[in-house]
Amino acid sequence: MENKLTMEKLVALCKNRGIIFPGSEIYGGFANTWDFGPVGVELKNNIKRAWWKRFVQEDPLTYGVDAAILMNPIVWEASGHVANFGDPKMDCKNCKTRHRADTLIEKHSKGTVAAEAMTNEEMEKYIEEHDIKCPNCGKRDWTPIRKFNPMFVTSRGTLEEDADKVYLRPETCQGEYINFLNVQRSARAKVPFAIAQIGKSFRNEITPGNFLFRTIEFEQMELQMFCHEKDSMNFYQNYKERALNFAKDLGLNEEHLRFHDHDKLAHYAKAACDIQYLFPIGWQELNGIHHRGTWDLSRHQEYSGKSMLYLDPFTNEKFIPNVIEYSIGADRLTLAILCEAYEEEKLENDTRIVLHLHPAIAPYKVAVLPLQKNLNEKAKEIYNILNKEFMCDYDDAGSIGKRYRRQDEIGTPFCVTIDFDTLEDNSVTVRDRDSMQQIRIKKDELIDYISKKIKFN
Ligand code: GAP
Repeated sequence: MENKLTMEKLVALCKNRGIIFPGSEIYGGFANTWDFGPVGVELKNNIKRAWWKRFVQEDPLTYGVDAAILMNPIVWEASGHVANFGDPKMDCKNCKTRHRADTLIEKHSKGTVAAEAMTNEEMEKYIEEHDIKCPNCGKRDWTPIRKFNPMFVTSRGTLEEDADKVYLRPETCQGEYINFLNVQRSARAKVPFAIAQIGKSFRNEITPGNFLFRTIEFEQMELQMFCHEKDSMNFYQNYKERALNFAKDLGLNEEHLRFHDHDKLAHYAKAACDIQYLFPIGWQELNGIHHRGTWDLSRHQEYSGKSMLYLDPFTNEKFIPNVIEYSIGADRLTLAILCEAYEEEKLENDTRIVLHLHPAIAPYKVAVLPLQKNLNEKAKEIYNILNKEFMCDYDDAGSIGKRYRRQDEIGTPFCVTIDFDTLEDNSVTVRDRDSMQQIRIKKDELIDYISKKIKFN
């Protein structure tokens, strides 16, 4: 990647410009939590809206839901999370730091060994044979590997002694599986159809970090396509393409994206693939596309006692649908988009930081800037017209050059400057963020001009 972006620079920009703040900062912070500020919340909402538009609104086969975060705990037994979900962790006895055994093996083997498919014993043996040391202190003095269940547990019940254990969901997709029958019946949906949702997930991650990349609370945008087995591979390929196109359309450079097909699969899976993005920390998973066979619905049928069999009205065949899952983190995608958009651009006498965000997802579409304070009345009049259509910023503090820089740093595609000629002829100057070119147009043409420029192609 040419650009010299580091996570530290991005974190600093995000904090200064109201994009993202460290969580609970006035109390000294709370590690790996982040609060979206006035600018960041617009960016993330725009990304979520773009996903929903593409995969729900524009797709007649897909239905949206918004399921509860707290679910009957049996859901997590059926899903396998209570028994199996967990990262293999080891503690370094020397420096008391905790590490994931699979990550250490994958780093050591430069990705050639798929540790996720190894048993604890195989990983311990590999670590010993290859003399893998603690990355923190350089010693090899490990505890045995233990599974660490990253589900956050809370309790339901008024008295402590009769409180029931409940879990904060570690993924949103279970809310889609358990509503398969409800959606199918109420929407009279015919297989193939998909259920999608966007919502918070929580994981007590062992190795969180790298800003928004891996956090303990995050949003997922997940979609489950329920289909007949004979169509399942086509849907799998189709979602791979659609997921890649979506990432590109949001502004991620094709050269910074690649497919990573999994060699080792979960026992029920028929195929699995990540789309990776070249983050400043290297190639990392951006999203997953998984062919999950009939595993999820079969398990919920077994644990709930409710039949998940679908009767095909055309062929009279009864079957449990296969599931193709497309899952992407809204925060991780926001991070990728920020990384891609960031540029330190050398100008003749200066350097500017600019976020080249696609205008459709930019937090503010336009900023209204009166050249001088005594033009505030006219500028406010124009601001009040524009803010009925777009998220707008208003800034009358400091020199016009500084105000342009502030807008560049939050990716505002257009700045509208009000000057004394505006009072005479109702024309304004529109400055383009990327080219810094300025044009003069009538104030009545502004909505049309901006609307056309902020659309996805
Ligand atoms: N339902 C399948 C599932 O949850 P996953 O690979 O564990 O699969 C899917 O997560 C996506 O959710 C990831 O590709 C990533 O974008 C996002 N994600 C997962 N864990 C995350 C975390 N701790 N912090 C931020 N995003 C995360």
